[in-house]
Amino acid sequence: MVEGHGSRTAGKRKGVFITFEGVEGSGKTTQMNMLHAHLIRMKVDVVATQEPGGTRLGEEIRRLLLDPAFREMHPFAETALYAADRAQHVYEVIKPALDAGKVVLCDRYIDSSLAYQGVARRVGMEGVQNLNEWVTDDLYPDLTFLLDIPYRVGLKRLEKRKAKFDRMEGQPESFHEQVQEAYRTLAKFYPIRIVQLNGADKPESIHHRVMQEVTKLLARESRTGSPG
Ligand code: TYD
Repeated sequence: MVEGHGSRTAGKRKGVFITFEGVEGSGKTTQMNMLHAHLIRMKVDVVATQEPGGTRLGEEIRRLLLDPAFREMHPFAETALYAADRAQHVYEVIKPALDAGKVVLCDRYIDSSLAYQGVARRVGMEGVQNLNEWVTDDLYPDLTFLLDIPYRVGLKRLEKRKAKFDRMEGQPESFHEQVQEAYRTLAKFYPIRIVQLNGADKPESIHHRVMQEVTKLLARESRTGSPG
């Protein structure tokens, strides 16, 4: 990994960018939805979105990426498709919302590519990082919540919810184990940006921690943010 990145690097912007990461079934979507609902109650101008598939083009890319029929998809092709989805998402949804001063919540972002493609698919962290920094113009989240849970527990939760796994979920257990380890490594590498939470805790107590961190961030941003 290239040192020096991993927190806000893009030029001045007014909004706040928060992402949620974790292995399959880690509960990150539940947490994002709880935070979203809370911020709406607080009358915060907030946008909730996801990757892959946060745009019309992204929906099509998502379909290709998750279709189990594409067994032959090369790791580089997969990496490039996630990056294409992300580029469209950044320029169509995320940046405009940040420029308008909104809080943007995103279910998965660059750390997913680093963990899934960079490590588990063995494309290499540095290549994945360079590609993603290039296509997003260095847009990193201000804050990332990593819902850490043993991958086997996550897969069990998923089995209860879904009759059929998609192309990524259906990867062997060793793949999911590497994703989990990669996330833990990322959390150590970016200790300020990434807040690691125990995904096995009760949703309400995780939500409490999430709110504490977000409240701190919003208070800091309102002190340092540029007027207007
Ligand atoms: P999704 O159904 O959105 O899963 P989840 O609910 O777990 O977020 O599918 C997204 C899948 O794509 C998931 O298995 C993780 C994977 N993924 C990557 O491999 N790289 C990426 O950059 C992103 C954003 C997702």
